[in-house]
Amino acid sequence: MPKVVVLAGDGIGPEVTAAAVEVLREVAPDVTLEEHLIGGVAVDAHGSPFPDVTRDAVLGADAVLLGTVGGPKWDGNPRPLRPETGLLALRKAMGCFANLRPVRVLPGLEKLSPLKEEVARGVDILIVRELLGGIYFDGDRRIEGDTAYNTMRYTRSEVERVSRVAFWAAEQRRGRVTSVDKANVLEVSELWRGTVQDLRDREYRSVKLNHEYVDSVAMLIVKDPARYDVIVTENLFGDILSDLAAVIPGSLGVMPSASLGDGPGLFEPIHGSAPDIAGQGVANPAAAILSVAMLLRHGLKRPDTANRVESAVAQAMRGNATRDLGGTATTTQFTRAVLEGLGQPAVG
Ligand code: NAD
Ligand code: IPM
Ligand code: MN
Repeated sequence: MPKVVVLAGDGIGPEVTAAAVEVLREVAPDVTLEEHLIGGVAVDAHGSPFPDVTRDAVLGADAVLLGTVGGPKWDGNPRPLRPETGLLALRKAMGCFANLRPVRVLPGLEKLSPLKEEVARGVDILIVRELLGGIYFDGDRRIEGDTAYNTMRYTRSEVERVSRVAFWAAEQRRGRVTSVDKANVLEVSELWRGTVQDLRDREYRSVKLNHEYVDSVAMLIVKDPARYDVIVTENLFGDILSDLAAVIPGSLGVMPSASLGDGPGLFEPIHGSAPDIAGQGVANPAAAILSVAMLLRHGLKRPDTANRVESAVAQAMRGNATRDLGGTATTTQFTRAVLEGLGQPAVG
């Protein structure tokens, strides 16, 4: 029996994760679930945002389902006691270097986008965000009086391994990769660009690769999102571009992710703990439920079940969406609609 470790975390994390777990139990009743603490709640209970007991559990799991971490309560904590530090340590411990962030607008859902319907229609982008390197990790980082340092650093092998995931994904999709960097200014980007191009020329000649600057992509991904298939980029650029891309389907609340590496995968919405709506029962659980679909596809190798969940979410969104998308459904009402949709034949 596969074991899934569930880390609900802080803010709306427990609300959207409860919805996702309900769906997971419905479609995969054989899976064993084990809950553990991460983030602010773990700081409060164990004095650490990523306690040893959580680390041991995730390393022994077949997949990990995460909610969200962080909140004003812990914002003043020293960095080792911040919820976000726990999330970064979790990703590092699990070796999840490739973060897949799909951006899709399924038929009938264009009207939920704040963009013109013809711009949003049919968008299907996969952002592959490098997750264990760059300015987030290693290198020199400190505050010294009135001066502060962070260092952006990448090695060729770090760039190669995440690029392989992007090329592999492109081969299953429309065969195009856009590598996003700032090679006109940054040495790290120069290495990034050369490495991605060399790998394409050596091993993935059937994939069409182009290179674009991150500032230009920030404009084009909103103006003309249909021009992108797979985007591969470094950690911080991928973080920012994926929140920006949430504008296309209409909300952060519909953006799931899968973080893959050599061991078990980590599946989480891309949004944060949304302190402004936490505890109100109105959070959109779609991103968390769609992360369950990614868990089923990539973590448990059950693509048919993943498709069923995705269809049910789309159907629920065509009905009554949550408040972030202009609807009136509460978290519970939306989750009910997804559960009801699961019984019906797949559409869209
Ligand atoms: P956020 O993503 O939490 O919220 C941004 C906006 O989007 C808010 O208005 C929020 O209400 C809305 N939103 C987000 N998810 C939603 C959902 N599912 N349904 C409806 N609306 C939703 O970003 P923030 O406010 O900048 O950060 C809040 C906290 O979350 C911070 O502590 C931050 O560090 C943390 N954070 C955690 C993660 C994570 O756990 N992966 C990701 C991002 C931010
Ligand atoms: C995300 C978040 C995290 C990140 C933070 C909370 C550490 O913004 O998952 O996108 O920057 O990776
Ligand atoms: Mn982010």
